[in-house]
Amino acid sequence: MLEKYFKIMTYGCQMNENDSEKISGLLKDLGYQPTDEDNKADMVILNTCSVRENANDKFFGHLGKYKKLKEQKPNLILSICGCMMQQEEIVNEIKRKYRFVDLIFGTHNIHVFPDLLSDFLERREMVVNVWEDGEQIVEGLPTDRKYSFKAYVSIMNGCNNFCSYCIVPYTRGRERSREPENIVKEVQSLAQSGCKEITLLGQNVNSYGKTLDNPISFAGLLRKLCKVDGIERIRFMTSHPKDLSDELIETIAEEEKVCNHIHLPFQAGNSRILKVMNRKYTKEDYLALVEKIRKRIPNIAISTDIIVGFPGETEEEFQDTIDVVQKCKFDSAFTFLYSVRGGTPAEKMEEQIDEDVKHDRLNRLLDVQNDIGRELNSVYDGEEVLVLVEGPSKNNPNKLAGRTDTNKLVNFTGDEGSIGQIVKVKITGIKSFSLDGVQV
Ligand code: SAH
Ligand code: SF4
Ligand code: F3S
Repeated sequence: MLEKYFKIMTYGCQMNENDSEKISGLLKDLGYQPTDEDNKADMVILNTCSVRENANDKFFGHLGKYKKLKEQKPNLILSICGCMMQQEEIVNEIKRKYRFVDLIFGTHNIHVFPDLLSDFLERREMVVNVWEDGEQIVEGLPTDRKYSFKAYVSIMNGCNNFCSYCIVPYTRGRERSREPENIVKEVQSLAQSGCKEITLLGQNVNSYGKTLDNPISFAGLLRKLCKVDGIERIRFMTSHPKDLSDELIETIAEEEKVCNHIHLPFQAGNSRILKVMNRKYTKEDYLALVEKIRKRIPNIAISTDIIVGFPGETEEEFQDTIDVVQKCKFDSAFTFLYSVRGGTPAEKMEEQIDEDVKHDRLNRLLDVQNDIGRELNSVYDGEEVLVLVEGPSKNNPNKLAGRTDTNKLVNFTGDEGSIGQIVKVKITGIKSFSLDGVQV
């Protein structure tokens, strides 16, 4: 039989990466092999993200490129899926202007992809199948994981928070938690196949388990997962500041396996802006929460997400964001220019901020944060840290790269045989976004 190849391009967040691993698992079961080369591929899948306009732009750019490839290779099957496909106007635009696309599905029906594919192969015309919401979480999909020693595990789907700027509740549907037994089973089987680190995924892990028939807290789930032999590190994201419990802080402090890192997006420092964003906490609430976490877990690393230029944000209000950054001293911050999303409440808000004002604020914010990042990293100078070795370093193939428990990226000279192991590294150099070192 002739080998068949597929290539998946994944945009957006870890949820999408995990979904792509499932799509890849399904395709491997159908006998397809993965490839990175466009020319070799019999099928290309674009798994899209809609969170900011530049994500959409990137996708449409790539779609143009695959149009050309399809002209050269008419048998190439082009599938598109992911968050953008959950938006009717986008699917309509593709149906109108991008007739060369073969197959469209959404975030709720990945599991029916094999059926859609055979439907397409039979009819040879565009197949569109997008579900508005997923009633049940589909368990047991084959997952073709990128690494053997670390894995993403989605513990819940969807989001009910409706932050006024955000598209995710519309593209991922209502919040649903997986049964803890199913998560434990998945993690046990990962551990048996040699996985050492898991990252639990949810738009807000703090609301995990509340609506299950037998409710369980997120901390309760963490404690169960800590009992799985072989798993050495447990990470999770994202934590919403509105409902981070004392029980969770206690669990991070007590459980050896739960990493000393928390991703705690604050989005904006000003309480009026936070209210209009529908974030349900104030500047003071956030500062008090960070203080409480640091008091109980002094060596915890905290990272965050920040949006600048939300509609109506004044210079003075932006200064509250700078103030929070200066007070909290984040280990790292993902910073974004506010991007208008169609269908969200913030789209209709007057006083959208000029692009150049947004850029200027972002640059000033980055200046402040970069200095803090370097300052926090400098405490590692000369220290020995434990690093899970991921592979060759991106900026120097002769070096290795891995992460500490606190999620610091370490580039170091070491033994290639230690990929997938947790090893000791002595830190010899400090940068704003990473550490340099030598394996001990
Ligand atoms: N559920 C997570 C975030 C998911 S989206 C949480 O609540 O923290 C990841 C990040 O993208 C958000 O934290 C936010 O900072 C950013 N983001 C979301 N919508 C955006 C928009 N319209 N413009 C700019 N940034 C946005
Ligand atoms: Fe978006 Fe807010 Fe949900 Fe995060 S919590 S996904 S920012 S709506
Ligand atoms: Fe993720 Fe983008 Fe969807 S951030 S949830 S892939 S809109």
